[in-house]
Amino acid sequence: MGKGAGFAKAILFGEHFVVQGAHALGASLSKEIRVKISPAEKLSLNIETGTIVPEASRAILSSFSLPANYRIEVEADIPSGAGLGWSAAYSVALSRAAAEEKGISPGWREIARHAYEGEKVFHGNPSGIDNTLSSQRGVVLFRRNEEPLSVELAEPLRVVVADSGKTGPTKELVAGVSLLKDEKPQYFSDLMEREEELVMDAKRALEQGNIPLLGRLMNRNQEYLRQIGVSSPELEGLIEVFRDEGALGAKLTGAGGGGCAIALLKSKKDASAILQRIDKNHLIFEAQIG
Ligand code: MEV
Repeated sequence: MGKGAGFAKAILFGEHFVVQGAHALGASLSKEIRVKISPAEKLSLNIETGTIVPEASRAILSSFSLPANYRIEVEADIPSGAGLGWSAAYSVALSRAAAEEKGISPGWREIARHAYEGEKVFHGNPSGIDNTLSSQRGVVLFRRNEEPLSVELAEPLRVVVADSGKTGPTKELVAGVSLLKDEKPQYFSDLMEREEELVMDAKRALEQGNIPLLGRLMNRNQEYLRQIGVSSPELEGLIEVFRDEGALGAKLTGAGGGGCAIALLKSKKDASAILQRIDKNHLIFEAQIG
């Protein structure tokens, strides 16, 4: 028997560019996925899935040298395909449950490494940011193949996250950006350079508590995401509502193509005007980061 949890996440700056080697900034959210495992005749889950969740689960269990003979019970606060890191939070939760089953207590970096085995099955070529964010609390500066760095915020961020109501296929979107990079190398490397500069400016703004600058950087980041083709009409609609209602900045978060958008609020601004304008059937919540 073992149990564990993984956090949902929000990428604040740098999604997609991070896959290609740039830095990115992200945070864990208080929403979670919780997993319990108990030995069984064969692998089974309590949720409806295609073949990919069992396949990712086998990869994670095997990274702990455990057989794929478990009943896996999943409880999720977030939907999948919304850009909030369902697959990473699940992979982290299962890694923690597997560690408990083995009677070991690895640190979060080790948990993130096991979870990455699941993420590779889910997404093909993940940067590793999602499983890193899902395995610990706080804001992290992340770059592929480097140790993640915790970022100390001068003041907490107030954000609203809302689902566009359409799921975003991460694997296809990431592959589409790689194709763009191959087809238009100069165009892409110019954007990468600007994105890298933006992420470093955002890190300083977080450390100095320059919230208005962070908002402007989010808007600029959204422009770059549009230019690599990962936004969608539904996301643009949400972002327009956020900005109309006084958000300092707004962008998609995660892989895009659908999924969620995130808005940064002034520290004392009331979010009710935004909340009222979003379709009540869509997931929407306020969160404090840091
Ligand atoms: C998805 O949450 C973030 C992407 O940058 C993919 C990745 O980093 O693996 C789109």
